Amino acid sequence: MEFVLYEEKGAVGIITINREKALNALNSTVLDELSETLDNVNLDVTRALILTGAGEKSFVAGADIGEMSTLTKKEGEAFGKKGNDVFRKLETFPIPVIAAVNGFALGGGCEIAMSCDIRICSENAVFGQPEVGLGITPGFGGTQRLARLVSPGMAKQMIYTARNIKANEAYRIGLVNEVVSATVDEAGNVTASAKENLMAAAEKMAATIAKNAPIAVRNCKKAINDGLQVNMDEAIVIEEKLFGDCFETEDQRYGMAFFLDKNKDKVKEAFKNK
Ligand code: CAA
Repeated sequence: MEFVLYEEKGAVGIITINREKALNALNSTVLDELSETLDNVNLDVTRALILTGAGEKSFVAGADIGEMSTLTKKEGEAFGKKGNDVFRKLETFPIPVIAAVNGFALGGGCEIAMSCDIRICSENAVFGQPEVGLGITPGFGGTQRLARLVSPGMAKQMIYTARNIKANEAYRIGLVNEVVSATVDEAGNVTASAKENLMAAAEKMAATIAKNAPIAVRNCKKAINDGLQVNMDEAIVIEEKLFGDCFETEDQRYGMAFFLDKNKDKVKEAFKNK
């Protein structure tokens, strides 16, 4: 692929948007390649994904302004749908996706990060929805996901003012779960960059997720995502169904037998070929 790299590290898949010269801006080709990459993830072995941008400076600096500059109304709507379709595929992807935000996450960059389950960022990350300064609204879900993820008031402030926020403010308002810094030695030399530490933190979190029962993790993602769209009475029914689905799985039988049985070796032996 021209702009998207995919690497497997054990049970963790790493997707890198690789268009560094344009700060990983999302043109139609990037969006198509992202969609194709997701379609090709081997869900039999991969249990968590990490999404990041190439380089140290930018995660994704937004949708491609050059490509959008000449669009007609109809083409603009189609471009919005193209982005929304890919981002929704990411949001509803069966396994968890961690956004490792390594710098600018503006416009479509903030929006794609919000389509992931979890966001962690480097200390140099900058988030924002600068679209109104370009004469457009956010178009890849920003008006919807930001208001759901932070608060409607904070989302409106960020979107109406088009003011970018730094990593620590993104952490304060709950847009990211963690901010990762560079490692600096006593002499002031950087021994590991913020991006290196960010990827290490993302891989560690992904590996922790990947160690847990895969059907249970998938069902948790679905329960949370689907439950947030409906009222509590309907939401708990969604959970009941997905909770019930876990029973009779090998993971449930093994996990509970392992907890209950004092003879752990016996349980391991009984389940070793399952
Ligand atoms: N689209 C296309 N190209 C982009 C881009 C974008 N969103 N962002 C950066 N680039 C390109 C620049 O044009 C430049 O290319 P050239 O070297 O060929 O000139 C290259 O990336 C490097 O960018 P800068 O020289 O501008 O780098 P900088 O360090 O001076 O500034 C920046 C960095 C503040 C992120 C600045 O590039 C910027 O403001 N980018 C645009 C951010 C933006 O407005 N994003 C929202 C887009 S609209 C959107 O996303 C709509 C939607 O919701 C779907």
